[in-house]
This record gives sequence, C-alpha cells and structure tokens, in this order.
Amino acid sequence: MSRTYTIKVRDRATGKTHTLKVPEDRYILHTAEKQGVELPFSCRNGACTACAVRVLSGEIYQPEAIGLSPDLRQQGYALLCVSYPRSDLEVETQDEDEVYELQFGRYFAKGKVKAGLPLDEE
Ligand code: FES
Repeated sequence: MSRTYTIKVRDRATGKTHTLKVPEDRYILHTAEKQGVELPFSCRNGACTACAVRVLSGEIYQPEAIGLSPDLRQQGYALLCVSYPRSDLEVETQDEDEVYELQFGRYFAKGKVKAGLPLDEE
C-alpha cells in the first residue's frame, strides 16, 4: 500500500486553491488531471518548466526534473509533471515564465546552458 498525501495547489492565475490527494508513487500533475484539476503544463517530462511551482511547505521528490537547475530546486521550485509527494504539500503556481527566465534569462547569453538530455517516453 502506498501512502497518499494531501496537496494544496494555489493557482496564481485564477486565485483558486485546489486540494488533491496524491499517492506517493504518482506524479502530482497527472493525478491533478485525473481529479479534474487543470494546471499548466507542456512537455510532461520534466524539460520545459511550464508546470513549475514554488513549494511553500512540505517535501517533494523530483529525480527526473532535468529542466530545473539544482539552484532553483534548492530555492524551492519543483516541476509537477515529474514530482512525487513525500509529505503533505502546499505549492503555488509560478508567474508566467518565471522559472524559465530565472534559469535561462541569465545564462543563455553566456552559453552555460547545455543541450537537454534525450528523454524517454514513459
Ligand atoms: S510540463 Fe514540461 S517540465 Fe513539466
């Protein structure tokens, strides 16, 4: 039996807060969709940051979030499409392109961004 956690997602675009029940072995974004909650996403495999959120409290596990720099992970950002809950969580959606700009706005010009790794479909 896997454990199930309660995830609160505040959607800054709509001002709504969604409450989800997510098993520890399921992606949060995927589970949200199944529960009829629409959240931003695009690639679904941890590469684009469209689904990025700020973690306000709780613990998240995102080993496949290759699109997110270690710095930003440490600052509490997470990619919901490849995130599993490890406790009850409170997260809020980013401002549009916030994570993309934090990550690439600064580095792109300096050529520090490496090409993405090949991604396997699940
Ligand atoms: S949808 Fe692209 S990183 Fe999550």
